[in-house]
Amino acid sequence: MIKVRVPATTANIGPGFDAFGMAFQLYNIFSFEERDNGKLTIRGVERRYQGKSNLVYKAMLKVFNRVHYRPKGIYIYTDVNIPVSRGLGSSAACIVGGLVGANTLCGAPLTGKELFDMAVEMEGHPDNVAPAMFGGLVVSLGLKEENHYIKKEVSQCFEFYGLIPDFTLSTMEARKALPKKVFHKDAVFNVSRATMTYLALTEGRPDILKVSVEDKLHQPYREGLIAHYDEVSQKARELGALNTCISGAGPTILAITTRDNDQFYAKMGKYLKEKLPGCTLLKLEPDNTGVCTARHSYGGSYDT
Ligand code: HSE
Repeated sequence: MIKVRVPATTANIGPGFDAFGMAFQLYNIFSFEERDNGKLTIRGVERRYQGKSNLVYKAMLKVFNRVHYRPKGIYIYTDVNIPVSRGLGSSAACIVGGLVGANTLCGAPLTGKELFDMAVEMEGHPDNVAPAMFGGLVVSLGLKEENHYIKKEVSQCFEFYGLIPDFTLSTMEARKALPKKVFHKDAVFNVSRATMTYLALTEGRPDILKVSVEDKLHQPYREGLIAHYDEVSQKARELGALNTCISGAGPTILAITTRDNDQFYAKMGKYLKEKLPGCTLLKLEPDNTGVCTARHSYGGSYDT
């Protein structure tokens, strides 16, 4: 049995829309086995996800077709810890898990970089699959044929919290809310803030992060899809969060504090319990390893 561990991810971090994301120590664990029975068996997920349309299986097929491998039968077990359709990269984890699982079953003919390109093609944007593959904070540049990325570790001075509502929001729906065109001044607004957010996170600059996590390309169009967005964000800031943003396409709200704010978790937890009891608060530690099997971590190099 091959086991593949894939981290949860947050994308955008405010202004870095479709460009950057980071990985957290919250994992889905996929187990894979080739069997002689000629069947596809998927367990650990609801019955409706146990067929050929399962995203993990679809990703496996991409690898099998690319390397001309014909498995007899496939067994997949999914240990799901990443909340589904909440903006924490659950679909990216399925794609990356399936690609890496199939590649490992075939004897690892494809490199991490090749798997990354395949993952971007499947997901349609690189900002979740890149940190899911490589861990850390990853900036990606998606081109037609291939993608480029730079991975950095996030400064130890920050802490991250996911405020996870009890309702789902599909990425497709959240992308439909975006306008086809944006104003030039809004694009300029984002360019400086995205660059500053990346540098603040990697260089440990809470003073900059406090002002740089602002966005005009997607958040203003999406906040209305997330009930209580304004009040929860405002409360998080009152309790000392440097900043908040929508995690990926939402509906999770990401709050970033300095590491010395030891009251935030207890106070935010109390507030949510009283006001929004369905909402879960998770402390999310950065992951710098990315997807890994028992023998290999993809976070260190392109090679498998
Ligand atoms: N960058 C993407 C979006 C992430 O915001 O739509 C969603 O997975």
